[in-house]
Amino acid sequence: MKRLLREDIDALDKRFRAALINSLSGFKSANLIGTCDIKGQPNLSVVSSVVHLGSNPPLFGMVMRPPVVPRHTYENILATGSYTINHINLDIAEQAHQTSARYDREESEFDAVGLTPLWREGSRAPAVKEAKVRMGLQLIRDIDIKENQTRFLVGELKWVEFPENAIAEDGYLNIEDAGTVAISGLDGYHQTDHLGRLSYAKTDKEIVRLQEVMQGF
Ligand SMILES: Cc1cc2nc3c(=O)[nH]c(=O)nc-3n(C[C@H](O)[C@H](O)[C@H](O)COP(=O)(O)O)c2cc1C
Repeated sequence: MKRLLREDIDALDKRFRAALINSLSGFKSANLIGTCDIKGQPNLSVVSSVVHLGSNPPLFGMVMRPPVVPRHTYENILATGSYTINHINLDIAEQAHQTSARYDREESEFDAVGLTPLWREGSRAPAVKEAKVRMGLQLIRDIDIKENQTRFLVGELKWVEFPENAIAEDGYLNIEDAGTVAISGLDGYHQTDHLGRLSYAKTDKEIVRLQEVMQGF
């Protein structure tokens, strides 16, 4: 085993450190964030930091890099209060990754990478037509993380769309069947392999396998 102490980490090459530290939070969700400016100019960017904050009301958080250089996604969200979260699927992973390039404000990443904006009632921001799981959010909080100038945005879910056959009777959404991929580090993309679902854990009950697709257990 390699063991690094904090002083070793601080001494690492900047890019190496970023790759390593970004890998440590495990598999992350792969999303395209759709926004537009006040004139309606669309923007798209890949974001892996989306987290579930609560279901009632339905809230999601995401981390935005420090706005020390132009950050179109962040600026657009502040200006319009609106954004969409679109799951990246197998078919669009490369196009999605390309949206992380620094395009000019006037250039739409939708056009640049060949994805289609989808305008939905209830959102000023465009969604991604090629995504199979998409949702519209309203910004409710912009939190300054003082230690490193990142921003933590909290958004409230306004609408969601997914393939009708992807939802189980109990509400579980089978995102693997929808082709949703996962991200590791800064540039690792993963196709997932579902191990199965387990019963609600209780101190006096044994865990029961809920599905037959459990080869890995
Ligand atoms: C795999 C991956 C994950 C990323 N995750 C985030 C993220 O969580 N937050 C963020 O601010 N930027 C993230 N980025 C960087 C943005 O995609 C990138 O800064 C992009 O150029 C922003 O575009 P914009 O200026 O149009 O908003 C990520 C990039 C990649 C490749």
